[in-house]
Amino acid sequence: MPTAIYGSPPRDVIEPPAGAIQVSPLVPGSQDLAAIAQASLDEIAVLVPPGAVEARHVLAQALRALRPGGLLTAAAPKDKGGLRLKKVLAALGCEVAETARRHHRICTVTRPEDLAGLQAALAEGEPRQLADGLWSQPGIFSWDRLDPGSALLLAHLPALSGSGADFGCGVGWLARAVLTSPEVTDLVLIDLDRRAVEAARRNIDDSRAALQWTDVRQAASSLTGLDFVVMNPPFHDGGVEDRTLGQAFIRAAAGSLRSGGTLWITANRHLPYEAALKAAFKSVRPVADSGGYKVYEARR
Ligand SMILES: C[S@@+](CC[C@H](N)C(=O)[O-])C[C@H]1O[C@@H](n2cnc3c(N)ncnc32)[C@H](O)[C@@H]1O
Repeated sequence: MPTAIYGSPPRDVIEPPAGAIQVSPLVPGSQDLAAIAQASLDEIAVLVPPGAVEARHVLAQALRALRPGGLLTAAAPKDKGGLRLKKVLAALGCEVAETARRHHRICTVTRPEDLAGLQAALAEGEPRQLADGLWSQPGIFSWDRLDPGSALLLAHLPALSGSGADFGCGVGWLARAVLTSPEVTDLVLIDLDRRAVEAARRNIDDSRAALQWTDVRQAASSLTGLDFVVMNPPFHDGGVEDRTLGQAFIRAAAGSLRSGGTLWITANRHLPYEAALKAAFKSVRPVADSGGYKVYEARR
């Protein structure tokens, strides 16, 4: 019987089941847990994501995929959902054994016979259309509203032209605006989150758009001579603030642009991106500073 793992829990918190296939949407190339046949897994280990709706959904999907009596080991850091983990699994109909290790709560359960208790959690975490018609899913960055940093960029973004990319495209807010310019010839949308790429695919019905489920830091080396890049770069890696991620996005953008090409970037104003922009670009122009966010135009 196959086994699976969701995410990359520290090995001294959960030992991955032997031969486990990866099912996290944040690992490009992994399998979709929702597409794994019901009652087909012997064992699954889950590093539970921090969002409450997303966490319930992933745990319900994991239980659905297990054969009756199959084993789920779930762990979460104490301050990122670990303290509620036992209660969440009990509400899904499981008898829970709980331990603690390395600031994580670790729960083990066997799949309950009756899966009826999973239905609400399965439904509430599904992809869905928001009021404005955009597809999204709990767990995607700012899944149910336009992020204020992206809103500030959209308020200042001019009509762009030529060939470009949207680094960390999410569900496609920036791409949708960029593609309103008829002068844009093609746009590559890249995101590490499969759910975001799938939502963006539904949201961007435009033959000029190409979507890639991959890590910008790797994909950028195959993109050259671009006229523009737009981005609201991530600053969390695995739930932990990581300022080097945005700086790597800036260097990746500089490497992908032609001389004279432009980067339009928005970020929380506390993030130290100005030095990275100045190091990689010929000129850097602050465009807006409002509501805790900053927008820059940087010319290569
Ligand atoms: C701050 S969000 C911006 C999303 C979208 N552009 C918007 O405006 O709503 C950053 C996005 O980058 C994605 N991301 C994080 N790390 C990444 C990586 N290494 N490569 C590609 N995308 C990444 C996240 O999944 C997230 O969708």
